[in-house]
Amino acid sequence: MSDHTNSSSNSSSSSKNPGWAGETGAFSGLSEADVRGTGYVGAQPKEGWPAGGINAYPYQLAEKQPDAPLFEGPYAKRLERILARYPTKRAALLPVLNLAQEIHGHLAAEDMARIAEVLELNPATVRGVATFYTMYNKAPVGRYLIQVCTNIACTVCGGDDVFNAFLAHTGTEPGEISDDGNFTVVDAECLGACGFPTVVQINNRYFENVNAEDVPAILDRLKKHGVDPTDGKGAGPAAKPESAADAPPPTPNSNPSSNSNGEG
Ligand code: FES
Repeated sequence: MSDHTNSSSNSSSSSKNPGWAGETGAFSGLSEADVRGTGYVGAQPKEGWPAGGINAYPYQLAEKQPDAPLFEGPYAKRLERILARYPTKRAALLPVLNLAQEIHGHLAAEDMARIAEVLELNPATVRGVATFYTMYNKAPVGRYLIQVCTNIACTVCGGDDVFNAFLAHTGTEPGEISDDGNFTVVDAECLGACGFPTVVQINNRYFENVNAEDVPAILDRLKKHGVDPTDGKGAGPAAKPESAADAPPPTPNSNPSSNSNGEG
């Protein structure tokens, strides 16, 4: 857990994650790829991109469409698919909020009102749910929303330093958008990967075992390659580092447990 140097940045399939409990007992001998899949953001995969859901949800797309009408055009079909999966419109509220945020990047008051209208709900109900969950952005965010875990496991391993380093290197205060529009940095309370502190979620990707010293390289990587070559849209080519210096920083990882998007 405290080993920040021997991290999963070693992308060979034989590498072992020192923090994984499966290294003992009945599950000994599993490779890191066996345990965590191959959906790494970093050097893996060299070619192509693994199939399957490997992203946290809701999607946080770099390119947002704040002026797109919600649930019209291509989004009408997706709304239809979501509604078809639930017995009542009310039950579809979270996936519909997810879809709206994916399109606009955040949920403005008008978005919540529109969702209430579409789902035939009281606007206060929609506002109450949207404001309860921190995963819903209530204000615009940069192309890359950087959520740094400052909960206990990450804090004792330098989470506050990582958080402050992101703020310093982006020149922002918490929640602000950087001047170039690229970054918004916020703190998060437990991202659920406590064995790999400090954990940072950038858009819908996890970066684990992050130190404050890693921050400039992570920001540089985001500017050059984005957080994910496909930006959360599944199969597609992975960006190749042009040189060793361009190689991504340590241990960006997918969140292996978050692959349900509520749309089927
Ligand atoms: S304390 Fe940081 S992921 Fe749980």
